[in-house]
Amino acid sequence: MTKLKDHLDAIRDRLPLSVVIAPYVALKKRGRSLTGLCPFHNEKGASFSVADDKGFYHCFGCGAHGDHFSFIVEKLHMPFMEAVEHLTRQAGLTMPKFEKAGDNNLSTPDGDHNKILYEINEVACQYFEAQLRAPENQPVRDYLKQRGMTGIIAKQFRIGYAPARGLAAVLQQRGYRAADCITSGLLIAPDNQRPAYERFRDRVMFPIQDSRGRVIAFGGRIIGQGEPKYLNSPETPLFHKGRQLYAHNHSIAAVRGGQTFVVVEGYMDVISLHQAGLAVAVAPLGTALTTEQVALMWRSCPKPVLCFDGDSAGRRAAQRAAQVVLENLKPGYTVEFCFLPLGEDPDSFIKKNSVTAFREILKFPVPLAEVLWQIFMEGRVLTSPEDKAKARQDLIQLSHRIPDPEVRHFYQQDLNQRLQQLLTQKPRETGQSQKILIHQGVKPGLMKKIIDGQKILLATLINHPTLVADVAEQLMLIKIEDEILDSLRNFLLDFCSEDNHTYSNNLLSVVREKGFGSFVDQALTQDLYLKARFAHPSSDLDQARSGWLEVWHFLERNSQLKDTADQASLELKSDFNQRTWQSLQSVKRQQSQL
Ligand code: UTP
Ligand code: MN
Repeated sequence: MTKLKDHLDAIRDRLPLSVVIAPYVALKKRGRSLTGLCPFHNEKGASFSVADDKGFYHCFGCGAHGDHFSFIVEKLHMPFMEAVEHLTRQAGLTMPKFEKAGDNNLSTPDGDHNKILYEINEVACQYFEAQLRAPENQPVRDYLKQRGMTGIIAKQFRIGYAPARGLAAVLQQRGYRAADCITSGLLIAPDNQRPAYERFRDRVMFPIQDSRGRVIAFGGRIIGQGEPKYLNSPETPLFHKGRQLYAHNHSIAAVRGGQTFVVVEGYMDVISLHQAGLAVAVAPLGTALTTEQVALMWRSCPKPVLCFDGDSAGRRAAQRAAQVVLENLKPGYTVEFCFLPLGEDPDSFIKKNSVTAFREILKFPVPLAEVLWQIFMEGRVLTSPEDKAKARQDLIQLSHRIPDPEVRHFYQQDLNQRLQQLLTQKPRETGQSQKILIHQGVKPGLMKKIIDGQKILLATLINHPTLVADVAEQLMLIKIEDEILDSLRNFLLDFCSEDNHTYSNNLLSVVREKGFGSFVDQALTQDLYLKARFAHPSSDLDQARSGWLEVWHFLERNSQLKDTADQASLELKSDFNQRTWQSLQSVKRQQSQL
């Protein structure tokens, strides 16, 4: 019997790597190596290089890298052993019988045992698929249909249904040992002597496949409401949830074709996007994105886009991901971020809007440096020289978390430039339109502030009647929703136009007479004067005037922002586009800063 490793070496000896690659790539000699257009991503320049003497290829564009066998695995989407057979034939050799160790898989030293686990997962997957098609499980099909999943996509993703019981019997009948079924995570061993029972009961099943398409675990969703919403397989010899990505196998072809991975949060998001034609959506498996998952994507895509909900949980998740990526940055590799409107996940977003709208959002991703900067600035004040010095120090510390010296250098430069420009209040020329797309909402206090502002304006005028004529024009422009405040404003305008000098000294009593007594009692109080000293009768006219105008400007600014926001919201309803949405976010941010 032959060692697999020896056989692979025999193939390498007989078959130069360039001969294996030549049918797929036109190679030209350049120096000691051969170069051509990379077959794993779209490119115009030749970044793909083959070194026959070393026996590996490398793409300087997309990072694809490997030997004879990985080339065939990746290019022809073949399992490893099939690739070995393919190259054995090409080398004019015959397939020998291999020794047990590393039987059918180099990467799994415990090949034999794992083989059983792969089988158990596959048997379970087929059983769940069949159950989904069983006549009695129409309600499950109805549920999926109601969620918009087509039969075609369900088949492609091998969606299934785990009934309340059944799998354990099937596995036993097929002769699998209970211990193996328990290791696979599909059955659970109770502490006592009772038989093992099924982990997934009455759930929609999402098989999790490795990058070669083998089923290695499952996610199970409850039908309708209930807890936990999703149940996942535990860690097993096949399944390490931090190292795998859901739908990696379904997305790799499009990514090899030059598209970019889009990372979303949930299984249903992935499926919706694939169904809508975005065959590049992947998701982590019930945890935050890990270093290994980012590295996995970087193997075929230098700049994946991470998509998050627009709420605070999404923002926190983005922050966590940004930190993880920061510590692994290397030249040429990064991630970008996209944020969805508040309360939407990709699945609900494309249903409410369209996949075109989603693609629009993807067109304007936020770079990592911008996200890091936003996190850095959150809640930070830069008033005193000490604040500023601290900020600079903290920035240096932040960039020191980047291990690669080149990348670190440019991050330092980028972040420092942002800080400098903020400190000198000059607007940045670059990245101006790249404001992070996170919905801020309007401060709950703002509505109250507006009403308070209107009361302050009216109270100031009642206490300083001669001011009314000076500010009449501005007073007229204010939008007042409250009916009583509005008619009081109108009364004041009439009052000044009618040349009522006789009243000037006791406008307060006239206002009371005209039926605004309760306003006077409620508004002209100590509380109001604490907020607006200038409104008090004792303050002089200049103070009253400038205070009045300041409050007026605040109200005016807010009302302009509100108009813009209303207009944008209206526009978005009929035609969702990124520009308008972005400007809406910016308006909301400004409102929240008032
Ligand atoms: P979400 O709660 O956002 O669910 O969880 P979802 O993907 O929108 O699901 P639907 O649309 O209601 O069906 C996002 C992801 O977090 C993991 C799953 O991977 C899920 O897809 N998760 C969630 C769990 O692992 N367990 C849970 O109980 C909930
Ligand atoms: Mn969802």
